[in-house]
Amino acid sequence: MKKKILITGGAGFIGSHVVKLFVKSYPDYEIYNLDKLTYAGNLKNLTEIENEQNYHFIKGDIQDKDFLTTIFEEKGITDVIHLAAESHVDRSISGPMEFIITNIVGTANLLEVARSSWKNESNHIFYHISTDEVYGSLGDEGFFLEDTSYDPRSPYSASKASSDHLVRAYFHTYNLPVKISNCSNNYGSHQFPEKLIPLVINNIKNNKALPVYGTGENVRDWLWVEDHARAIDAIFHKGELGETYNIGGWNEWTNIDLVRKMCQIMDEKLGRTPGTNEQLITFVTDRAGHDMRYAIDATKIKDELGWIPSLEFEEGLEKTIDWYLSNEDWIENVTSGDYQKYYDEHYS
Ligand code: NAD
Ligand code: TYD
Repeated sequence: MKKKILITGGAGFIGSHVVKLFVKSYPDYEIYNLDKLTYAGNLKNLTEIENEQNYHFIKGDIQDKDFLTTIFEEKGITDVIHLAAESHVDRSISGPMEFIITNIVGTANLLEVARSSWKNESNHIFYHISTDEVYGSLGDEGFFLEDTSYDPRSPYSASKASSDHLVRAYFHTYNLPVKISNCSNNYGSHQFPEKLIPLVINNIKNNKALPVYGTGENVRDWLWVEDHARAIDAIFHKGELGETYNIGGWNEWTNIDLVRKMCQIMDEKLGRTPGTNEQLITFVTDRAGHDMRYAIDATKIKDELGWIPSLEFEEGLEKTIDWYLSNEDWIENVTSGDYQKYYDEHYS
């Protein structure tokens, strides 16, 4: 059976890297990128593959179940890699409903349509992409494992936890052939500049304040987005049905250390006197319910599927900074319009 894979959210940050990897690596697969093109989705992320024979873009909303049914029927969708979501924690605090509708109801729609379309056939995969934030917040010690209890704290992580539970329920109740992965914080090119790393790069470039929430002691585990895409490839092709895989970078940083590191790298790249950029650091009111520490134990995917991160963090950070500094048009494009209004209301 020829694979006709529906990748949802393929115009977003991680989705665009996954689409590019699959279109280039698997010319025998037909790749259907279904994306609503919210503020976070941008077709410019996909210019290098947009003319490939096996790539197809579909503008659409996973909130619309009838539309999904038509797509499954018309295109003969055999597999799903589901990334479409509202993804920014701060937005989920100021407006949770869109997160609930897209992340929970949208996922339920996809599960329902896959269940009715694939009823009598085998060899399908419904692969749901999730986050380590479903596990809640760690103290100084320990790591999230695949069997760590769920304890989400933000509307974003609660909506992702809910969708993970639905995916597992469809495996146990209906034998839907599912896989799930929960990944740590991603960084790299094409990330919308509201998340920490691209926001800091953009603000340093423009001599704007660098807002660090609370004391800056919160810890995140950072992974190069292309290594996440490679992990998704490994799990899609080699992972067991019904299983969960944690993906992480073994790369913990406090926010303040990370921001200082970026200030130093960019002093040098922009030809500024050492210490100049650090003066932009501004401690601001903490995020409500701010999780203290995330850290992933990715031993399972390493031992079972042979995946490990390929890039050292310092090299990845430099590459990311270089990409943003030489792609001003992209930033201009995504930061105009609605996003700018949101940015001005919340951050300036
Ligand atoms: P993103 O916000 O950059 O992209 C999300 C994409 O989904 C956008 O292209 C958007 O247009 C699309 N979308 C949103 N609502 C939609 C809808 N109703 N119908 C169709 N398309 C819709 O997000 P991202 O950072 O690339 O994250 C992708 C996935 O990976 C999400 O499911 C997220 O929870 C998960 N994840 C992200 C991270 C991270 O660090 N960014 C880490 C772990 C897991
Ligand atoms: P973010 O990139 O929003 O990812 P997540 O909340 O999913 O981990 O934030 C990463 C960390 O950086 C998080 O601890 C919140 C913090 N942060 C700031 O201190 N300032 C900022 O302007 C932003 C966007 C995030």
